Amino acid sequence: MMLANNGALYPVLGLASCVALVYMSFGDLALDLSTHAREPEMSFVGRNGTRFTMDGKAFYVNGWNSYWLMDQAVEEISRPRVKAMFQAGAKMGLTVCRTWAFNDGGYNALQVSLGHFDEHVFQALDRVIVEAKRHGIRLLLSLANNLEAYGGKTQYVKWAWEEGIGLSSSNDSFFFDPSIRSHFKTYLKTVLTRKNRLNGIQYKDEPTIFAWELMNEPRCMSDPSGDTLQDWIEELAAYVKSIDKNHLLTVGLEGFYGPASSPEKLKVNPGQWFGTLGSDFIRNSKVSDIDFASVHIYPDQWQVGAGLEEKMKYISGWLTSHIEDGEEELKKPVLFTEFGLSDKSRDFDHAHRDVFYESIFDVVYESARRGGAGAGALVWQFMAAGMQEYSDDFGIVPEERSSMYRLIKKQSCRLMRLSHGRDWMKRRDSETFCAE
Ligand SMILES: *[C@@H]1O[C@H](CO)[C@@H](O)[C@H](O)[C@H]1NC(C)=O
Ligand SMILES: *[C@@H]1O[C@H](CO)[C@@H](O)[C@H](O)[C@H]1NC(C)=O
Repeated sequence: MMLANNGALYPVLGLASCVALVYMSFGDLALDLSTHAREPEMSFVGRNGTRFTMDGKAFYVNGWNSYWLMDQAVEEISRPRVKAMFQAGAKMGLTVCRTWAFNDGGYNALQVSLGHFDEHVFQALDRVIVEAKRHGIRLLLSLANNLEAYGGKTQYVKWAWEEGIGLSSSNDSFFFDPSIRSHFKTYLKTVLTRKNRLNGIQYKDEPTIFAWELMNEPRCMSDPSGDTLQDWIEELAAYVKSIDKNHLLTVGLEGFYGPASSPEKLKVNPGQWFGTLGSDFIRNSKVSDIDFASVHIYPDQWQVGAGLEEKMKYISGWLTSHIEDGEEELKKPVLFTEFGLSDKSRDFDHAHRDVFYESIFDVVYESARRGGAGAGALVWQFMAAGMQEYSDDFGIVPEERSSMYRLIKKQSCRLMRLSHGRDWMKRRDSETFCAE
């Protein structure tokens, strides 16, 4: 499949009546929608070989992660953070934000028990989508977690176990237990066919959604051969595509090579252990229903105790290797969906992050310039001001770090210039935006 969609425009149907209806039930946001901004028209992001495309042009990703958007949109008191975050992203020219479209069983859970959803939380996700659209930003929505934060595979297994339908209490039974697979399918179907209460558009028809991600960082350590995870990816990816042919789909991998990769590739892993996690970058990303590959970059965890220079050297090889895979093995774009430098490492200095970001941005830009598979990168992670409790070793309020802010904006500008070529200067705002 060369293109994930035909690039046609999907006009917002019956906008006026829709806005009127929305106004009655959704207060502030609806008021904003009707008086300031009509929903901008957007087209779907597609794919042609190793490139993302939009309206017939190459589409590059400069973006970030804010996993907390749906959670913060639930309650009125925290809701302004969502808008503030998209505003900040738009100001840096960012194009894609990756966030969680799941919360299984926890506080503000979307899925409160197997197959049961909290409508109020769903409306928070509706809101996140509409806010993103208003700011011209697209969403990479992740659909489950391998880790326990916000429920994850462990929560599914607990639920199944409690209902007496689970085969095993191992949290990897999320991957191999047919009844849990079928419950996850119910979840997928509910999300993909959700009709947004604010704009009336089903999620599967919503161009603001850049792509779906099956799971954040899947690992299935109980089967290091990789067969279990591979089988799960094949089945679930086909299921997503059977419902939604508009959107691109990725796995959510960290990028480790597994036993099916060549011995040269296994050597690229940060250590031998990383080849035994049950995932395999090349084999998993080759699945035909998977449109692009995802890779994470965490040198502090992979090169423990190493100095900055050593870490940079390592990640340069890591990036190059995956971009080559995209071009030679996969013929698909490669998106670096998380990269971060921990502020808890021994010799941490904010200037290190600038060096780290710049080296990633340069590799992505150089790849894009020569028409390669490097399609973009997403910072882990940005927060709005005043939300320290949502931080980890990687949280950044971008406006507070001016040198980083400039680097990010520079990357946005040169990627936009690459996409739009000669039309660039004719684009409204672009000249002044990037001249600053
Ligand atoms: C896809 O890209 C190729 C080569 O870059 C180009 O020749 C072709 O026209 C593109 N196809 C579409 C449908 O855009
Ligand atoms: C898997 O479950 C075990 C307990 O059964 C737990 O200790 C572990 O943290 C879980 N792992 C993940 C990734 O959720």
